[in-house]
Order: sequence, then structure tokens, then C-alpha cells
Amino acid sequence: MKLLLLGSGGREHAMAWKIAQSPKIEKLYVAPGNAGTSNVAENVAIKGDDFDGIRRFVLENDINMVVVGPEDPLVKGIYDYFQQDEELKKIPVIGPSKAGAVLEGSKEFAKGFMQRHGIPTAGYRSFTGGQLEEGLAYLETLQAPYVLKADGLCAGKGVLILDTLAEAKKELAEMLGGMFGNASSTVVIEEFLSGIECSVFVLTDGKNYKILPEAKDYKRIGEGDTGLNTGGMGSVSPVPFADKAWMQKVEERIIRPTVEGLASEGIVYKGFIFFGLINVKGEPMVIEYNVRMGDPETESVMLRIKSDLVDLFEGVAAGNLDEKTLEFDSRAAVCVMLVSGGYPEAYDKGYAITGIGDVNPESIVFHAGTVMQEGQVVTAGGRVIAVSSYGTDKAEALARSFEGAKKIQFEKKYFRSDIGADL
Ligand code: AMP
Ligand code: GLY
Repeated sequence: MKLLLLGSGGREHAMAWKIAQSPKIEKLYVAPGNAGTSNVAENVAIKGDDFDGIRRFVLENDINMVVVGPEDPLVKGIYDYFQQDEELKKIPVIGPSKAGAVLEGSKEFAKGFMQRHGIPTAGYRSFTGGQLEEGLAYLETLQAPYVLKADGLCAGKGVLILDTLAEAKKELAEMLGGMFGNASSTVVIEEFLSGIECSVFVLTDGKNYKILPEAKDYKRIGEGDTGLNTGGMGSVSPVPFADKAWMQKVEERIIRPTVEGLASEGIVYKGFIFFGLINVKGEPMVIEYNVRMGDPETESVMLRIKSDLVDLFEGVAAGNLDEKTLEFDSRAAVCVMLVSGGYPEAYDKGYAITGIGDVNPESIVFHAGTVMQEGQVVTAGGRVIAVSSYGTDKAEALARSFEGAKKIQFEKKYFRSDIGADL
């Protein structure tokens, strides 16, 4: 089949790497892709939210399936766009409908959904611009630290965790006053949960689901989990505390009620669900939902999927995912992210990247923010390259990734050398 994958990050390079291994694939395109995806697929210069451009490409090139990497096209309704078009509707889109993508697009909706379906999550209340006084009064009933979340998408910047009541009150006023534009016209205030986080992913056809390998990502820029939040500095799979008993709780209390809850509310959902979980004294609770795979979790998770991912996608499209098999690779997989100095604040682009070819064949180099410029791969984003590796255990995989991370060179390169050290 001919498959079009949307996106341009490390997640999409990892997915393209896996998809390209499927014997079912005759031709794989990535739109818009990056310098790495062009090694395993053909890049097409179309943006994920250019639905008309995608429509034209899909019809002209007889595409049989579209897989959506990032949340943006989903939240903007690409699934529904295909469904509402006579010519496109027979082409499956792997990703939720617009109504399903609201699980990620609105924190308030996600919290309400969990409440309706008895899914464990932090206690909360939400407030709009006219309710500042009530919001301030609610903050006074809580204990530090305080968690404030802009309702809408803010490119990962919409969650503030404040240590003092005074700061929390000031930030609430600013958020409701338009700090994140429309995205923070509603703010969710929730109870702070303390524990270790874990990302769990499922692929669902709306009724059946398959649980993919779990992973832990490392969000802060600094070693020892310090400094600003980033898109993610590395990931590790499997996660030791996510053992059989814990995953059983996750499935019974969280995954099944989510999939059933979506169906019972009439929300069409055929794609990935990303459960951002936290382990609170042995009990899993939901921090957030995303409607896509995680980045950089995917750069570990794809290595651990032994089965044909395209066969699973066909199960999602046909609604017979229960008839498909999903086997895991028993090895550990990790990823270490190389970023541009300055990230997640201001950083420069356009630095030449060298040494990729010197990386050990046990590692897989996934490109994140890179482009090809006059025959040279150059940096084009904050997160630049993910060095993923297999190992018989986490330690072996990490040693390989760190070795690879040192061999790849570009000006102001930075990576965290403590990925996986806390587990
Ligand atoms: P989110 O965008 O909802 O994933 O939040 C970003 C990060 O903020 C999460 O990965 C957590 O590290 C942290 N966080 C969010 N909500 C809470 C909470 N209720 N308690 C503790 N930490 C939280
Ligand atoms: N790694 C977290 C995310 O993709 O949102």
C-alpha cells in the first residue's frame, strides 16, 4: 500500500522507520518530514494543517492510508475532513475525530471526561475570565504546590506549577487575563500529585485496543530533573515500576474506561491514545491525555514493537484490531536527545551536523529538527537528533546512546547524560 505519514519530528522519523519495515508498504511518504525521514521515505512539502494540499496529494498519488503524527491536524479535524469528502472517505486516517482530539485540545474537557467515567485523576476546578475571584478563593483552599493549566493547546507551555500562594494567584490572574491568548481563557486548577511519571500508549479501533510498550520521558532541560520544561530530553522503555500488576490496574481503571467512555459518548476514535500517568504510592493516576504518540517516547517505543505496525493500522481502520497480534521485543530501548544550546529558550539554527555515520550500528539515529541544505544536514530546531539504542538491559542501551551522542557534532550541542539514571 501507499501510506502518507504527517509530521516532521523525531517521532515521525521513528514511525517512518518502523512503517518502512512492513512488507505491506509499497511506498511511504512523509509530509513535510525532515532530513532523516528522507532516508526511509519520500518527503513531500505539505504542512499538516494544509488539508486541501493533503487532499490533492492523496488523490493524485493513490494513497491508501494516512497516519497522523502530531496533534495539530487532529485537533483541526483532519479525520472529519476525510470523512466528509466523497472521494476521501474510503481512505482511512489513523487518528481520532475532531471530537476525540478534544481530549488533548481541552484540559477542561479531559478532566470532565475522567470525572464522568470514574477515571483516577487529580481533583480540580476550572475557571473562566469572569471568575477570577472564585479562582483565587479556590486557590486558598489548596496546599502548595499549585498546579495551573491553560485549557487549550500551548505547545507544552501551558502548565504552571507554583510553590507559593502569592505566585499562584498572580499567575492565575495573568492566565485568565490572556497570557496564552484564547488557550488560557479557561484555566484548570488542580491538586498536585507526587510520584514518578510514565507514558502509556494504546492503539484503538474505537472498540478494541492494543497496549503498546510503555516509556518514561525526561522533560526538564537540566540533569537531575532541574530547569525549564522541554518537549522531552530522552526516554526509556520498559519502565521498571510498570510491572504486570501495575499495568493491570492501568488497563482496568484507566484504559478500558477511556475507550468505553469514548464509545458511550459517541466519539469516533481510531488512533493512538497517550495516557500521561503518574504513580502515586503504587496507584496509577492520569495527569493528561494526548491523542498522538509521545515524542521522544516514540523513539524508544518503536524499537520495542516486533509486530508489523501497518498490519495493526489496518486493524484500526477495519475495526478488527482484536484479530491482530502485537508482540514486544524483550530488549530494552532508550533514546537520548541532542538539543541546540539555549533550548528551550532562544537558540540558533543552521549549524552543520557531522558524525552521524560514525554512530554504532546498534544505535538508530532519528532526526528531529534537521533539514538538508546544499547537501549538508543542518540544525533546524531546538531538539535536533535522537540517538536510540537497543540493549540487553537499560544500562547497555544507555551506554550505546551516550557513545553515539558524543560522536555526533554540531555547534552548541547539549544532551542530558543522566537519562534513565533515576529508574
Ligand atoms: P501536562 O501538560 O498536563 O502533561 O503537564 C506538564 C507536566 O506538569 C506533567 O508532565 C507533570 O510533570 C506536571 N504536572 C501536571 N499536572 C500535575 C499535577 N496535577 N501534579 C503534579 N505534576 C503535574
Ligand atoms: N513527551 C511528551 C509529549 O510528547 O507530550
